[in-house]
Amino acid sequence: MVSGGNASSLPLVGGSAEPTIRELSRPGRKASKYPNLDVPEVDLNHPALKNEKAPLPEVSEHDLVMHYSRLAHRNFAVDLGFYPLGSCTMKYNPRFADYVASIPNFSNTHPATPSEFTQGSLEILHILEDYLTEITGMDHASFQPPAGASGELTGLLIIKRYLQNQKLDHKKDIIVPDSAHGTNPASAKMAGFNVVEVATDQRGMVNIEDLKSLVNENTAGLMLTNPNTGGLFEEEILTISNIIHEAGGLLYYDGANLNAIVGVCRPGDMGFDIVHSNLHKTFATPHGGGGPGSGPVAVKDYLREYLPGPIVVKNSDNYSWYTPEFSIGRMHGYHGNFLVALRALVYMKLLGKEGLDTLGSYAVLNARYLSSKVSKHLPLAYDEPCMHEFVATVKELKKSHKIKAYDVGKALLDKGFHSPTIYFPLIVEEALMFEPTETQTVETLDDLAESIKLIVEELSAPGVNLTDYPKNLPVGRPNELIPAKHLTVHWGDFELLELTE
Ligand SMILES: Cc1ncc(COP(=O)(O)O)c(C=O)c1O
Repeated sequence: MVSGGNASSLPLVGGSAEPTIRELSRPGRKASKYPNLDVPEVDLNHPALKNEKAPLPEVSEHDLVMHYSRLAHRNFAVDLGFYPLGSCTMKYNPRFADYVASIPNFSNTHPATPSEFTQGSLEILHILEDYLTEITGMDHASFQPPAGASGELTGLLIIKRYLQNQKLDHKKDIIVPDSAHGTNPASAKMAGFNVVEVATDQRGMVNIEDLKSLVNENTAGLMLTNPNTGGLFEEEILTISNIIHEAGGLLYYDGANLNAIVGVCRPGDMGFDIVHSNLHKTFATPHGGGGPGSGPVAVKDYLREYLPGPIVVKNSDNYSWYTPEFSIGRMHGYHGNFLVALRALVYMKLLGKEGLDTLGSYAVLNARYLSSKVSKHLPLAYDEPCMHEFVATVKELKKSHKIKAYDVGKALLDKGFHSPTIYFPLIVEEALMFEPTETQTVETLDDLAESIKLIVEELSAPGVNLTDYPKNLPVGRPNELIPAKHLTVHWGDFELLELTE
């Protein structure tokens, strides 16, 4: 029997008829009580303020708690089931890291507290910088970027400033593979570069001949994730880095896929000059629902003075903040998301050297095991051994039975699994990208593979209405396009927010 990720066995209270918080509202009901004023009352009747009462729901505390608990039970989460979302590294986040991050001495520290009172926090960032630079093969890091995409922009601004200082302003081209995550070209464009796309070859790797034809005196650099978005290790990485460096360009490592190589090899040794790490992926922080992230940027020594400031420095008897000489400026208020950085350090300490040395190998082992099973039911996009993730394709089933990657993802929800990433990378038709991470057991991987088998059989049967899937969840197939193009948030007569493209 397929036990799935267990989400299907959850007590999903009610169906779509469950009352909304506004329907629960009764005039005068309250969930909170404030103490009597012990200071003079202030008249807030300022002309700039709205005079009528905000149309907020009025509910009892218990109704409020039940309402949000019911909503929370409708959510899928890494703590409820397997979440094989490729490229997102949705691994288990140990509770101990959350516990440490919730210690008031950390969580209550105001970011503007002078450094003489926050020596412990500075020491934490300094130790984490040491660990991260050791893991990635770099020399210095800044913790300001709050996510991977922000790390990319930071890295590209560093490249831009560095080239300007070298009087190489004409270098305006950033080369990005056609398989890259959308944030790569977007960040390059935002930083003021031209985006030049390099093709992927038949085996799923950077096409070296195409790369050679694109590189010239205008090349500012190349952005690459290795393993790439097809889950394959770029075997020619040293050739690639030589080609870029010989043209005077810099290499940027998109650390989204760092999980595959931790403890095995390092971007710094592959020739990369700048690396961002997604602490929320590789080093476990709850993410995926918009939670805070952290995308620290690490650089080789010669780029240290361009890092966003301030950065932590260790003096003979204390730690202090330092703004690098050619700093690109701030990328985030204060020092980035400190509590995410703290969780990452706790995670590293929990794993210890032995755990960190084997992390990447186990992530790859799990992905290869799962791919060997899934490939019996869905062909893989590339006939190469995968690293920490792999891409399968539904294109044949689409031709024969009109089944799309989207349908397989939706049907998996019924079996208690989150969908894998769909339609990414863009260069693979009807792509499903699976990333199990090292934190899943072999039984869970077997369950997922079995579910894929059952879904392929079920959806290919005669008379199946694909749009019926998922059948057992409170929300089925909401229109994902209309709210993105024309968002109207309202209840009854209350227009709360309207955003039109
Ligand atoms: C390959 C790749 N690059 C960059 C990013 C952007 O990272 P973040 O979501 O932390 O901004 C992602 C996110 O999924 C990714 O998969």
